[in-house]
Amino acid sequence: MEGVTVVDHPLVRHKLTLMRDRTRSTKGFRQLLNEIGMLLCYEVTRDLPTELIEVQTPIATMRAPVLAGKKLVFAPILRAGAGFLDAMLDLVPSARVAHIGLYRDPETLQAVEYYFKAPADVAERLVIVIDPMLATANSAIAAIDLLKQRGARDLRFVCLLAAPEGIHRLQAAHPEVRIWTAAIDEGLNEHSYIVPGLGDAGDRMYGTR
Ligand code: PRP
Ligand code: URA
Repeated sequence: MEGVTVVDHPLVRHKLTLMRDRTRSTKGFRQLLNEIGMLLCYEVTRDLPTELIEVQTPIATMRAPVLAGKKLVFAPILRAGAGFLDAMLDLVPSARVAHIGLYRDPETLQAVEYYFKAPADVAERLVIVIDPMLATANSAIAAIDLLKQRGARDLRFVCLLAAPEGIHRLQAAHPEVRIWTAAIDEGLNEHSYIVPGLGDAGDRMYGTR
């Protein structure tokens, strides 16, 4: 699918299957989300630009690559997006963070905003929006709308599971935003939950409901 990278790595496939299991404990679910978050972060940052600096090894002087330019911003959509954050910050410790508080109204399915805080210079940085679930895409579209209103221009979206409907809607609303996902599932059920999916990611992460 154009504009979508499915991170089809055996470790990701294995861990995602464990997460789908309805008997997985809260602790196990959270741990697996963290582990997959690290693998997704590795892929979404694969093409970051580097520049050469001079470094002195114990043996010789050489020119060696480091990341170039301003550090990126991770933008978790709360609550479930927070499950990816620690793993991504472990890989990119100097990244900034934009917190986006949104919940999906169960009746209207519209994203309801309750919190937004982004770095002042978000316009100058690559912003990686993170949320395990892309279902109707109402949350992802609203999050990216908010970030663009703050000036963000270079955005990517990373999720664990995507429904084809969500991918199409996100691409229609924000065609330049590339998507990384661990899997694309069959579709949405009558309550707009991803099928077969893994249920409510936030509830499973935090043991709520
Ligand atoms: C879930 C999920 C996404 C959203 C996806 O969050 O983490 O943010 O639903 O659905 P959509 O694509 O149809 O918008 P939820 O609203 O349940 O909030 P939570 O993370 O606080 O549990
Ligand atoms: N949000 C979730 O957490 N799960 C779904 O399947 C859809 C939206």
